[in-house]
Amino acid sequence: MERQEGLTRRDLILSAGKVVAGAAIITAGGLTLVSDAESSKGGKRPWPYTKLDPDEVAKWAYEDWYRHFCCHAVAASILSALQKKIGEPYTSIPLDAFQFGHGGVVGWGTICGTLLGAGIATGIIASHQGEKIANDVIAWYASTQLPIFKPDKPKAHIKNVSRSDSPLCHISVGRWMKKENVKFFSPPRKERCARLSADVARQTVILLNAWADGKYKPTHGSQAKTHQMPTMNNCTDCHGSNIPKLPGT
Ligand code: HEC
Repeated sequence: MERQEGLTRRDLILSAGKVVAGAAIITAGGLTLVSDAESSKGGKRPWPYTKLDPDEVAKWAYEDWYRHFCCHAVAASILSALQKKIGEPYTSIPLDAFQFGHGGVVGWGTICGTLLGAGIATGIIASHQGEKIANDVIAWYASTQLPIFKPDKPKAHIKNVSRSDSPLCHISVGRWMKKENVKFFSPPRKERCARLSADVARQTVILLNAWADGKYKPTHGSQAKTHQMPTMNNCTDCHGSNIPKLPGT
């Protein structure tokens, strides 16, 4: 029997039949075996994507926030929908890996976990184009009064929306807490972050769907190229009126 890297062709076909970690892909011509090197990269990129219902994904993200918080809520609402609709290679993604993004990465208040979750999902799904989608989602987030999403059965009542002007968890949630006059560890703040997760998941799916239709056009330019260093846009929030000059200029 023909041998391939220690495995018989029959072994490969048997394991492919069990859909083992991208060992095989089905093509129009039938079963095609791919090399280990290719399968360890997840096979052909980008992975298949099928359009999702933005409102369904939003509802899932809202509920998931109460289980695993913001980053997981956004990444897993999208990726678990694809696990159900497409299966492999999405089913090999360990979704629990994305919980760490909560509170701006384990409570450090850096990038809002919802945006990190969006970037994880768009990167996995759409590779390089996914980065552009993430850029547009961040620009939308920073300039929009959030949250917008209204759950069928809210777990807490909230009164205010706010515009962050920033992708930072610390600034985004802090501004909203000030307006609502609530503590971080309070039911209304949790509700706000859960609804905001639904909003970001929904917006991300809208752009991914446009991309799938070949209609997506990136709108937000490069932050680093615009400002000649990686930065947010709200310079005066941190620097006051005394915005430093770029070193070396
Ligand atoms: C979230 C807060 C924040 C925002 C927003 C922000 N910066 Fe900064 N920036 C800082 C901090 C903190 C430093 C470090 C300052 C230091 O060590 O003296 C810094 C450093 C810099 C430096 C390096 C030189 C220096 O004097 O420290 C430049 C240039 C700069 N910022 C420009 C900008 C510009 C332009 C914007 C808006 C497009 C911006 N920053 C937005 C917080 C911020």
